[in-house]
Amino acid sequence: MSTALVIGASRGIGLELAKQLAARGDAVIATCRRRDDALETLGVRVIDGIDVTDDASVAALVDALRDSPPNIVIHNAGILEGDRFESISLESMRRQFEVNALGPLRMVRALAPILGKGARIGLVSSRVGSIDDNGSGNNYGYRTSKAAVNMIGKNLSHDLAPRGIAIALLHPGLVATDMTGGRGIDPAVAAAGLIARMDALDMSKTGTFWHAEGYPLPW
Ligand SMILES: NC(=O)c1ccc[n+]([C@@H]2O[C@H](COP(=O)([O-])OP(=O)(O)OC[C@H]3O[C@@H](n4cnc5c(N)ncnc54)[C@H](OP(=O)(O)O)[C@@H]3O)[C@@H](O)[C@H]2O)c1
Repeated sequence: MSTALVIGASRGIGLELAKQLAARGDAVIATCRRRDDALETLGVRVIDGIDVTDDASVAALVDALRDSPPNIVIHNAGILEGDRFESISLESMRRQFEVNALGPLRMVRALAPILGKGARIGLVSSRVGSIDDNGSGNNYGYRTSKAAVNMIGKNLSHDLAPRGIAIALLHPGLVATDMTGGRGIDPAVAAAGLIARMDALDMSKTGTFWHAEGYPLPW
């Protein structure tokens, strides 16, 4: 049985990841900033007060996991603040970098000492962070923060490889959540695809970028 940690599980794709991992029998630890009913009713271990931009709360999470370290980690937390060239806000860009890029780095760096050989880490990025795939522009803050997490994940793959820990960047698809105003595929479909990618992740695939549907994406 796996012990799966889902970071940012209060709603959307993260909530669905926690639900499906629990349904198949994994021991699930789900983090959120604030508790609410949707997560409580899954019957998983919930650790609240975890903000990926906050060193102290990330350190508290690592302490809480020391006795039961996960072998699957999915960093799902993320934010999107849309912008166009005319409306770029550097403040907004910094916020998105804090959550989408530095959040996963902060989290993986803090968790790494308690992870064992064979652990697998998925960072939920976005195809929108692919430079090759950028055919429409806009969303400067979101695109650059996701491009940054892609580089961070690739770098982490080198640092974690000697310890036998695999890490991948994952794109869930366009998913109907609060982030997209309900536009896209069912979060259940996206979560199932992400879990399949986590199951397929091994050291031969570490440092790669995947669509939840099962094909590699260009950087
Ligand atoms: N939906 C899509 O089409 C799509 C496409 C590509 C990639 N993604 C990525 O998929 C992930 C999940 O997106 P979603 O669509 O499920 O979005 P969502 O419904 O807006 O949920 C976002 C999740 O991230 C959490 N979060 C935000 N800021 C956080 C912080 N500072 N610390 C801890 N948790 C934080 C939220 O917690 P609170 O409830 O506390 O705010 C919530 O659980 C994100 O990384 C997103 O960029 C989504």
